[in-house]
Amino acid sequence: MKNIEQLQTYLTEKDFSQLFILTDDNTSKFCLPVLLEKVDILTDRQAVLLEIPAGEENKTLNTAENIIDSLTESEADRNSCIVSLGGGVICDLGGFVASVYKRGIQNVNVPTTLLAMVDAAIGGKTAVNHSGIKNLIGTFNFTSQVFFDAEFLSTLSSSQIMDGIAEMLKTFVMFDYSGAEELMQITDFTEIKRDLILHCAEIKEKITLEDPYDRGIRKKLNFGHTLGHAVEMFYGLSHGHSVAVGMHYALDLSVEHTGYDKQKADKIKGFIENNYEIPDYRSDMQQLIPLMRQDKKNTDGEIKFILADGQ
Ligand SMILES: NC(=O)c1ccc[n+]([C@@H]2O[C@H](COP(=O)([O-])OP(=O)(O)OC[C@H]3O[C@@H](n4cnc5c(N)ncnc54)[C@H](O)[C@@H]3O)[C@@H](O)[C@H]2O)c1
Repeated sequence: MKNIEQLQTYLTEKDFSQLFILTDDNTSKFCLPVLLEKVDILTDRQAVLLEIPAGEENKTLNTAENIIDSLTESEADRNSCIVSLGGGVICDLGGFVASVYKRGIQNVNVPTTLLAMVDAAIGGKTAVNHSGIKNLIGTFNFTSQVFFDAEFLSTLSSSQIMDGIAEMLKTFVMFDYSGAEELMQITDFTEIKRDLILHCAEIKEKITLEDPYDRGIRKKLNFGHTLGHAVEMFYGLSHGHSVAVGMHYALDLSVEHTGYDKQKADKIKGFIENNYEIPDYRSDMQQLIPLMRQDKKNTDGEIKFILADGQ
């Protein structure tokens, strides 16, 4: 992942015909001033601001259409570039619009949440939710460059930080247990080390380069997401929090079906229980099952779970 300072060079060298900055109302307030201070070309070239309301409920085709309408009004041509400045919602939306507008324009992700820094901004998956189903419509868009700046973390709430910690835990449990150990020892997550964040982002980058279309090893990054997506829709919890709940269940399934080390599973579950409120998902399973049936991993009507197998 490149540093934010390298975005200036990148945009200068590419010489895009027009620059757009996609934000939500929070990232306009908290992150745009930081970006404009560090990347002069955005001001010099009078980048057009496209602001949408914050929140997962706005990750829709309707919002994508509004963004497309604004691009059209500004006469954006195929050599234009969107700078997506935000969390996973902005990165998913910006990447989606960039991949369909005029059959594809450039998108740059500048992740501003921990979750987007380690996960959503990387790997080319773009999506909008539709008919109450998470990420029902989307594309693979491998053109997006990612530019990192830890300064954005300073304005996140502790629950927003914990959303990112959940996705970090997922990646480390699946690919580097020592990273999970380090993560679970942290006492103040606002002080999380930049190196650990970048290490996690590098793992995601490596896995997605190896298996860009999610046909093999990349599927492991969906650990916790089968129940997680259902929980997100059913209880309206944030994505990261829902993944934590999904992992809580997937760990039990892993012990049962792959022989995953029970002590390790209990330790991780303990960490999740101490840091996230866990709804009584087992009691609500009858309502969660129809939602899990919509999961993109399923084939032949069977619900599929990704399990940990103790690499
Ligand atoms: N494409 C992928 O591979 C991938 C991977 C994981 C998650 N996702 C998606 O990412 C989304 C979740 O991402 P998220 O948790 O970043 O959600 P988000 O984008 O909704 O951001 C969470 C909140 O933080 C605010 N915010 C963002 N940056 C801020 C900052 N620096 N300071 C203060 N407030 C800030 C946002 O306005 C929002 O209110 C979900 O839609 C999920 O499906 C995608």
